[in-house]
Amino acid sequence: MTVVKNVCCIGAGYVGGPTCAVLAYKCPDIKVTIVDLSEARIAAWNSDHLPIYEPGLDEVVFACRDKNLFFSTNVDAAIQEADLIFVSVNTPTKKSGMGAGMAADLAYVESATRRIAEVAKSSKIVVEKSTVPCRTAQSMRTILEANSTPEIQFDILSNPEFLAEGTAIKDLLNPDRVLIGALQTESGIEAQNALVDVYTHWVPKERVITTNLWSSELSKLAANAMLAQRISSINALSAICEATGADVDEVAFACGKDTRLGSKFLKASVGFGGSCFQKDILNLVYLSKQLNLPEVAAYWEQVVIMNEYQKKRFVRNIISTLFNTITNKKIAVLGFAFKKDTGDTRESAAITLIKDFIQENARVAIYDPKVEAQQIYMDLSEPGVVDTQKQLEKNVQICQSAYEAADGADAVVIVTEWDEFRDDQLDYSKIYTGMNKPAFLFDGRLLVNAQKLRQIGFKVSVIGKNELAGTA
Ligand code: NAD
Ligand code: UGA
Repeated sequence: MTVVKNVCCIGAGYVGGPTCAVLAYKCPDIKVTIVDLSEARIAAWNSDHLPIYEPGLDEVVFACRDKNLFFSTNVDAAIQEADLIFVSVNTPTKKSGMGAGMAADLAYVESATRRIAEVAKSSKIVVEKSTVPCRTAQSMRTILEANSTPEIQFDILSNPEFLAEGTAIKDLLNPDRVLIGALQTESGIEAQNALVDVYTHWVPKERVITTNLWSSELSKLAANAMLAQRISSINALSAICEATGADVDEVAFACGKDTRLGSKFLKASVGFGGSCFQKDILNLVYLSKQLNLPEVAAYWEQVVIMNEYQKKRFVRNIISTLFNTITNKKIAVLGFAFKKDTGDTRESAAITLIKDFIQENARVAIYDPKVEAQQIYMDLSEPGVVDTQKQLEKNVQICQSAYEAADGADAVVIVTEWDEFRDDQLDYSKIYTGMNKPAFLFDGRLLVNAQKLRQIGFKVSVIGKNELAGTA
């Protein structure tokens, strides 16, 4: 029976860092080394200011760093020492070549796998933690097997990660399930059991699911696609609500009470963001096309199309409400992260909206409690359109508070559902006083009590709600 004593994680990002920090925290008998090619990222993991913001992460890392948890750029040494290696590198959408804009770029997974094959001096269990297209483990196996000898064997497992940013530590400490796929061979099953033993240090055994490799890989894409599909479904309904006078919160509540549907992931919004939903659905669309299943591809692609539509619809509503022009008007954007409790901005709806505002020659003032100004400038630059921070600064101002952003603004737009933007936390009377009149407020997150804000004097517009519709 294989007992895991030494774990290496390749990739110290949003997944590798928190996942393996929790593993170290819960398994003091296992040495965990998280490695990355990025020196800056590793230096940050070794500092007092961790490279990602995630509630509860500091406590976990500081409790075991330099005891049984290490961060290093020495990838080869960590591979050599480990008996189990998580491959937790990025798998972004391909930018060029075959499948550009849709297929996953597996270059990082391949280079990490090749590195393992090249430097390993003893047998390893290699775990695919990154989200990958179905049957990627086959390619990893081919690379590793080409380098195995009678003394050095590689077993491959699929162990996709289901954590959500903002609640990563909670999700990792108490996961709904842990999924481990393996080839159903004797050594595959032994490797699978070894990883089950690691997780059952803290996860109840009945929540650790074992499957074959391909089911595990596909389940990860399927779970993200179904979650995103629910958001696109409620967002599609939000458009009907606005046209009819139905209230999307009431519709979501009524539907969610059906235990077969459940209440989660039915919050209408300005559109889902994040590094994974769109990427993983497009990955599924590409896979379906490759498998010659065009109807299946079209079905999933519609989830992404609906998400883009929702963002555009929101912008169109803002422009038409502001008398069909926002040229030279000041728009205060509250929130830039793709959801609350994270500093991550990847695919944030805020990026699309603000670029549209800039195209319309508006002046945009942005406040987010966790996103650094530099990140915002980077996200809003577009090669060939707005190349430099200096150009952007003509239209974009980064603020230190919601009050500063809203000062002199014609409209406030809530894009991220940070708690501090709620109407019991932010002084909306103060915001109103400082704004141009009429003072418009657009709530893309159903975060504030519109009635209360209307009493202050705001002209409020909320996704999925239109009290005037159907009354005339
Ligand atoms: P990330 O970009 O934050 O981190 C990936 C890290 O891997 C980077 O720091 C990069 O420098 C490093 N890296 C790349 N190639 C390397 C190599 N050959 N050797 C060493 N280091 C290398 O990405 P992430 O958000 O952590 O996502 C990683 C994977 O997990 C993706 O496949 C993603 O789809 C999946 N995933 C992400 C989340 C999430 O919430 N972010 C959740 C579940 C699954
Ligand atoms: C998502 C999944 O929830 C995780 O299970 C998965 O592991 C992860 O993707 C991944 O593979 O990367 P994440 O993107 O971090 O996690 O965050 P979510 O809470 O899923 O939110 C995604 C987006 O949907 C956010 O922009 C959020 O605001 C939006 N959303 C979420 C809604 O608009 N409405 C909802 O009801 C829920």
